[in-house]
Amino acid sequence: MIIIFFGAPGVGKGTQAALLAERMGYGHLSTGEALRTAIAAQTDIGKIAKQVVDAGGLVSDDIVTKIVEETLMLPKFQAGTILDGYPRTIGQATALEEILRATGKKVAVVINITVDQETLVQRLLLRGRKDDNEETIRARFAVYEKETAPLLDFYAKMPNLIHTLDGNAEVETVYTRVKAAVESI
Ligand code: AP5
Ligand code: MG
Repeated sequence: MIIIFFGAPGVGKGTQAALLAERMGYGHLSTGEALRTAIAAQTDIGKIAKQVVDAGGLVSDDIVTKIVEETLMLPKFQAGTILDGYPRTIGQATALEEILRATGKKVAVVINITVDQETLVQRLLLRGRKDDNEETIRARFAVYEKETAPLLDFYAKMPNLIHTLDGNAEVETVYTRVKAAVESI
């Protein structure tokens, strides 16, 4: 089962994906976390990705898709797979379809979390990750609107895949909405 967490920077993809993974025993892949780990370890991918991530741009489809392809083969990901922050472009969504077709798997649900933008900016500034400064946050939102939001049209062509839920509530309240979406599959 493939579960995609979707939404703008700060909506709670990572928070909810981690809870669901822990409670259901599924594998959780955040491409953002994978890239931050690579940057910290100064791997070849990390060296390429650093400037892009720091500026709030998108790392190339090829790099992130390779990370996804390798991770999906891990044993932990066989019971269930949670993708957090991938796909983010039409190219990535198309690549994911190809990877899944080869393994006989399908996207089961796209959990689209929505929160108003000013609340998101406040959340991110409070968190204070390296890319959580005002300028980079604005860049990430712009990239989300231009490159990522159009994926909702891509997945809307597949019947009943998108579950949109309000992420502006307590973490556990949002989790009950996430769980309901997963149980409705
Ligand atoms: P990524 O790490 O995916 O960042 P993002 O999409 O900007 O999202 P965030 O991780 O900031 O937010 P989130 O939705 O996970 O929210 P969270 O739960 O953390 O990507 C970072 C960068 O990596 C990208 O800019 C890009 O450069 C690169 N990258 C990653 N994937 C890529 C891809 N596929 N292709 C190309 N490049 C890629 O919550 C945010 C904060 O709010 C936290 O402090 C949290 O505690 C708090 N919070 C969560 N829920 C609630 C709640 N209900 N109420 C109040 N506070 C809450
Ligand atoms: Mg995240």
